[in-house]
Amino acid sequence: MAPFCNVALLGQKFMGRAHSNAYLKVAKFFNVPLQPVMHTVVGQDLIALAPFASRWGWRKYSTQWKDVVKDPAVHLVDVSTPNYMHADQALAALAAGKHVACEKPLAATLKDARAMRNAAVKSRRSRTFVWFNYRRCPAVALAHQLVREGKIGRVHHVRAAYLQSWGGPGTPMSWRFQRKFAGSGAHGDLNAHIIDMCRFVTGLEFTEITGAISETFVHERERPGGEQKALVRGAAGPSSKKSNKEKVDVDDCVLFLARLHGGAVASFEATRNAVGHQNNNQIEINGEAGSLRFSFEDMNVLWYFDAGDSPRTAGWRRIMCTSAGNHPYAGAWWPDAHVIGYEHTFSRSGRCRISTAPTKRSAYWKRPCWRPRTGRRSR
Ligand SMILES: NC(=O)c1ccc[n+]([C@@H]2O[C@H](COP(=O)([O-])OP(=O)(O)OC[C@H]3O[C@@H](n4cnc5c(N)ncnc54)[C@H](O)[C@@H]3O)[C@@H](O)[C@H]2O)c1
Repeated sequence: MAPFCNVALLGQKFMGRAHSNAYLKVAKFFNVPLQPVMHTVVGQDLIALAPFASRWGWRKYSTQWKDVVKDPAVHLVDVSTPNYMHADQALAALAAGKHVACEKPLAATLKDARAMRNAAVKSRRSRTFVWFNYRRCPAVALAHQLVREGKIGRVHHVRAAYLQSWGGPGTPMSWRFQRKFAGSGAHGDLNAHIIDMCRFVTGLEFTEITGAISETFVHERERPGGEQKALVRGAAGPSSKKSNKEKVDVDDCVLFLARLHGGAVASFEATRNAVGHQNNNQIEINGEAGSLRFSFEDMNVLWYFDAGDSPRTAGWRRIMCTSAGNHPYAGAWWPDAHVIGYEHTFSRSGRCRISTAPTKRSAYWKRPCWRPRTGRRSR
């Protein structure tokens, strides 16, 4: 059996469930160098914690994250709390010599993000990563490989959008709509993913942001019940003394344009108010020799257009990314042609190399997510 790694998970709700599931499954499907041990789960809601720990197999539970991150038995701290807590928790974990996995967006402010990056660089023994799970869709990882292998040639355009529709006026207040807790709205929540997807698939860094617009469509929301009630109370202040509503002070959508290394241009759009779109995390990349297209709403599929095809039969190819040995990660899961889902994107082996083509840039892909690169890369 592989040596083990004791995990402390901070946060027990949406991502708490997704990450717990990943820790349970990863060693069953991948040959892992370290066996994750579900040591301690931390949350705010003590009543919900005991049944959560028992259901998912956590050995211990606690409401005191400051004690847990210092526990000598813990090796990896997994930060899956609201954005404003990421910096304090990750910095404390690094100071205690732990490895840190942190949910996106890395932090609620640029200042916090820089402090986290600097601490990660300084603590050389700690390994760090951000949960940019969409990279682990076989179709996205295949797109990354095809770009590196030159299948679409020099990149001209990247068109990325993350469109959701749950942010209408009927959705009550939560930490996600308050700057104090979230830092930003759709921007940090959704643009964070597609910015990462663009960098991951193309291998290109940003050189310039040329314009951005931000809009808030729903300015106040009903006060919530349950755990959110305690969390959001008084954050932005009630709209009026008699009102049962709280003010929203983050964006509902952010659009911006960018230039990338090598002359490519890119557009990004994130919104939680695009009615008709459920979780449409999509990207299209147009190169001089071909194009690629992906949407998470059809996550097992990558679309590929080869500009070298005869015009007589040219067209977009729909590639079902479920073939072991041909498509990254596919062989770890089910027999060929059996599709996977959202939860699979959180599991992979740390030693699973997704790119086989040798390249001068290979060091870049092994670099931890939030350490700065050294030296300048060029295509
Ligand atoms: N990678 C993805 O696809 C993805 C998807 C959703 C959310 N996220 C990110 O994950 C993080 C958590 O989001 P979520 O949707 O799970 O939120 P959530 O509201 O569902 O859960 C937040 C958890 O944090 C805990 N918490 C809050 N304050 C705490 C405190 N002071 N001490 C200890 N625990 C505390 C709560 O008890 C709760 O369990 C956010 O940064 C979010 O952006 C990532």
